[in-house]
Amino acid sequence: MKEYKRYLVTSALPYANGPVHIGHLAGVYIPSDIYVRYLRLRGRDVIWVCGSDEHGVPITIKARKEGVSPQDIVDKYNKIIKESFEGLGISFDIYSRTTSPTHAKTASDFFLTLYEKGEFTEETTMQYYDEEAGIFLADRYITGTCPKCGSEGAYGDQCEKCGSTLNATDLINPRSAVSGSTPVLRETKHWYLPLDRHEEFLRRWILEDHKEWKTNVYGQCKSWLDGGLQPRAVSRDLDWGIPVPLKGAEGKVLYVWFDAPIGYISATKDLTPDWEKYWKSEDTKMVHFIGKDNIVFHCIVFPAMLRAHGGYILPDNVPANEFLNLEGEKISTSRNWAVWLNEYLEDMPGKQDVLRYVLTANAPETKDNDFTWKEFQARNNNELVAVLGNFVNRALVLTGKYFDGKVPAAGELQDIDREALAELPRTRESLENNIEHYRFREALKDAMNFARVGNKYLADTEPWKAIKSDPERVATILNVALQITANTALAIEPFMPFSAEKMWKMLAMEKPAWDRLGGSDIVPAGHAIGKPELLFDKIEDETIDRQLRKLEEAKKANIAAAAPIDPQKDTVSFDDFQKMDIRVARITAAEKVAKTKKLLKLTVDTGIDTREIVSGIAEHYSPEELVGRQVLVLVNLAPRELKGIMSSGMILMAADASGKLVLLQPESEVRPGTTVG
Ligand code: 2FM
Ligand code: ZN
Repeated sequence: MKEYKRYLVTSALPYANGPVHIGHLAGVYIPSDIYVRYLRLRGRDVIWVCGSDEHGVPITIKARKEGVSPQDIVDKYNKIIKESFEGLGISFDIYSRTTSPTHAKTASDFFLTLYEKGEFTEETTMQYYDEEAGIFLADRYITGTCPKCGSEGAYGDQCEKCGSTLNATDLINPRSAVSGSTPVLRETKHWYLPLDRHEEFLRRWILEDHKEWKTNVYGQCKSWLDGGLQPRAVSRDLDWGIPVPLKGAEGKVLYVWFDAPIGYISATKDLTPDWEKYWKSEDTKMVHFIGKDNIVFHCIVFPAMLRAHGGYILPDNVPANEFLNLEGEKISTSRNWAVWLNEYLEDMPGKQDVLRYVLTANAPETKDNDFTWKEFQARNNNELVAVLGNFVNRALVLTGKYFDGKVPAAGELQDIDREALAELPRTRESLENNIEHYRFREALKDAMNFARVGNKYLADTEPWKAIKSDPERVATILNVALQITANTALAIEPFMPFSAEKMWKMLAMEKPAWDRLGGSDIVPAGHAIGKPELLFDKIEDETIDRQLRKLEEAKKANIAAAAPIDPQKDTVSFDDFQKMDIRVARITAAEKVAKTKKLLKLTVDTGIDTREIVSGIAEHYSPEELVGRQVLVLVNLAPRELKGIMSSGMILMAADASGKLVLLQPESEVRPGTTVG
């Protein structure tokens, strides 16, 4: 293996059109944070760059939908993403943005260099144009009937029903997803990176020189290369992005996938004036952390760009992960089927390490995996609380209790002590080997093994029993247990930095150098430890149920959004409408109707009288929520008996296809009895 002098670690730049979710974290950001924290602990020269990917069509579409500018969208999400990463302890050296001035210049110059070197080809093609919105349409924004299977709603690049790959011009009845209008074909000129020119090099570089890459990464590259590489357009017709820096290229910007990876270079420039040392020296080991959907861009397109430019190094490895599913379904931003990091941090304060732990233990390193809230709870309760937390707590509490918080000196060691201590350097070796090879799940098991060894050691030696008869023996046992505790704190730091910090505080020690890991003399005898506190709390069913309910709500909202709108009913005359007497009323009392799930008996002040109305809203509102509220009531509806109660009138509500009901209420308080119409 090659010896490197320094490391340049990059993590995929997340699109600034939504918050990050657990899929992003498990796939990219947690593994890279573990890797970098580990390298720093080992004293290696490492920098880690990331930032928001702020260009591209989806951002412009979202802005259009929300009636704001693309800049507003990226400002909003850049802030949310950056803050939530910090909240989880993701320790980038810089979190930059592709809308920064440094990036505009870097990407623009990069394009010009390639252009001047003759590394591009130019092509004029026909592309769909939305005349109403005044934009060329990316394939994803054209929908129509699939020419292969005839189903509606196929995209310009793919039919999701039958799985066929399509060309936008193949679609029957194409429509713009932006405005709904029928797009027209227009001529447009673009610059292309002829990947075919780099094919031979890439075949050698990946398929021969990088056989050690993860099989999922290597396999994807091989199938791309075997399929033959085609020229790829590096510009787009769009008004959001970095302008193509050429005369006659007005209205054209760099394709987002051309500018985004250059963002790694710009971020490094913003981080350090020494940036070239990281990008241009063969002594630097560059590692790209990404999800599997980014493999082709990082293993084929970006290396081809860097080579075409010249002077830059290529990645040593691209340890891409597969995808994480959520409760058995694909994570989806548009369907809100996700656990969002910013919401997690709000809902579960102080539980950053629990998420970091669960997402690492279950990371989709070799295949897609599933996140479930039940597993989250089980791993917290059975592993973090029962093993790690329990061991550390016992070692510290017993030291407090028997030795007044002073680390006892070890006497003569017995076999059982020696065996436990011998596990420490072995575990260290395995942990290092796993991290260096991007096997973070296994590395986490190693880190936890320190605590497992400690837990078993205390269970086997039972110091709480020996204390009466043999306090000297207990001194040795607790000395050993505290050495294992310190080893554990050091080993878990890359994975669970918040807990490691708490442990050093409880041990009343500065974190020692990594080379002490595996040793039996980290904590000196006579040292006074601090106050023990619990590292982890048990997570109750209630907490998990709340998260599951949140997902249920997302599902309902999706059903409602996908349901067709009811067609308009038959016309009524003005006179007929006038016959309906709708009034503002106030609910003065509410109670459940016995033996029913859905019904509430409401007492309402209609201004005309006080009456009772039976309403089917018990599953949506509690009686307490309703009392005092103003509502709209159809007061002259013929009374009818329901469950033995005479119901006189109807409370007006909006109901959607998922069964969700919402009350209608006047925008501001008005006198009960006021007519509505
Ligand atoms: O897939 C994504 O989320 C992209 N925004 C990743 C870009 S990585 C890089 F090249 F910048
Ligand atoms: Zn189809």
